[in-house]
Amino acid sequence: MIMSVNSYMQAPPGIIPAYDNGWKFEEGYPKLTLFVPNEIVPALNVEVLKSAGAEIIGKTKDSVIVALPVSIVKQLISDSFSGKTVGESILYSVLTESAKESLKDVPLLKVVDAIVANTVKEVGVYTVTFKSPTYFPSILHAIFASITVSSFTVAGGYALAYAKRKEDHAKLGLKYGIYLALISITIQGLVTGHEMGVAVAEWNPEKFAAMEANTPTFIEKIVAFLAYGDSNAKIPEYYKIPDEFKPPLIVHYLYYTKIILAILLGLAALIVSYMLIKNKDFPYAYLIAFPVIAQVISFLGWAVREIGRKPWTIYGIMDVATAHTINPPSAGAAALIAVYLTAILAALIFASYKFLWRG
Ligand code: HEM
Repeated sequence: MIMSVNSYMQAPPGIIPAYDNGWKFEEGYPKLTLFVPNEIVPALNVEVLKSAGAEIIGKTKDSVIVALPVSIVKQLISDSFSGKTVGESILYSVLTESAKESLKDVPLLKVVDAIVANTVKEVGVYTVTFKSPTYFPSILHAIFASITVSSFTVAGGYALAYAKRKEDHAKLGLKYGIYLALISITIQGLVTGHEMGVAVAEWNPEKFAAMEANTPTFIEKIVAFLAYGDSNAKIPEYYKIPDEFKPPLIVHYLYYTKIILAILLGLAALIVSYMLIKNKDFPYAYLIAFPVIAQVISFLGWAVREIGRKPWTIYGIMDVATAHTINPPSAGAAALIAVYLTAILAALIFASYKFLWRG
């Protein structure tokens, strides 16, 4: 459930990306598909709406399906949550003359809420988050991330125990841990990581452009082949993204640090597996670094995912500035969460020291 909501925030169903072998920001993309209830449609001046970049893409029994530039969606959401009336908002400019008079004092949130709630109803109230185009690769990648981190933790813990007490069961634990870790990180890299990259390239091209912002030219053809299946395909140019949609450049360095660490950890797991199969001796205690490195890679994955989504909190719908004004965390709540997480970390360190290190 959590991963489906997070995937909805990455790429809500109905998002139309701004990249197709070239940026399409000038044509008003990215756009978001909305289901406007039939009772609201007569109030809208379709010609003005179209000149603002909206496209009428279809109809259902209860709604007209409209693709609206996300810069307009973002403004409507921000105006709604800052308490504006229709008359004070950008919606006023796309109303028919008669509707302007009757709607100008209506709270904008009432109209926007009706459109968003109707869109969720049409897409599926209980399934809308699972219909995010990035949900499937995301949940698979997250599941294998947890298997990868857990198996490297088992391997690291038993390696330390074996280094200290040379007991057979510890060596068996190490073997199970490292063989599973090797299988898992291989699937994580070659299958779920690949699918994750392809999904980001298609549905979050701005994030993909940030991930590849300063990628050396000689690697670009490999990246293009991995992302699009065509080594001649053009990778979206980061420096051509308007500031309004540009994720921070740090995403590039976070992503490549993660990928390089993941490849090195995978190779290390391969070497250790080989040494164990050949029953060769080596300094086992150093493998206690494995769980730390695996956790760092996983953390970097979340950093790419969350920082790479900026400037959006919900991609194409709500920006960080609006989310912050709606729901600012109280200092007390933030402090409580910080104390809670620090306490867990302290307990984890103490347990590792007492049961693993001191043994
Ligand atoms: C080596 C090849 C790998 C590739 C190509 C890869 C690719 C990616 C990409 C593109 C994202 C960003 C997803 C987004 O922004 O929506 C991501 C996220 C993530 N990665 Fe990886 N990854 C790899 C290995 C790993 C490994 C080894 C781990 C764990 C130890 C891992 C854990 C994560 C996590 C936890 C996330 C955030 C949650 C998610 O998006 O599912 N990744 N990865």
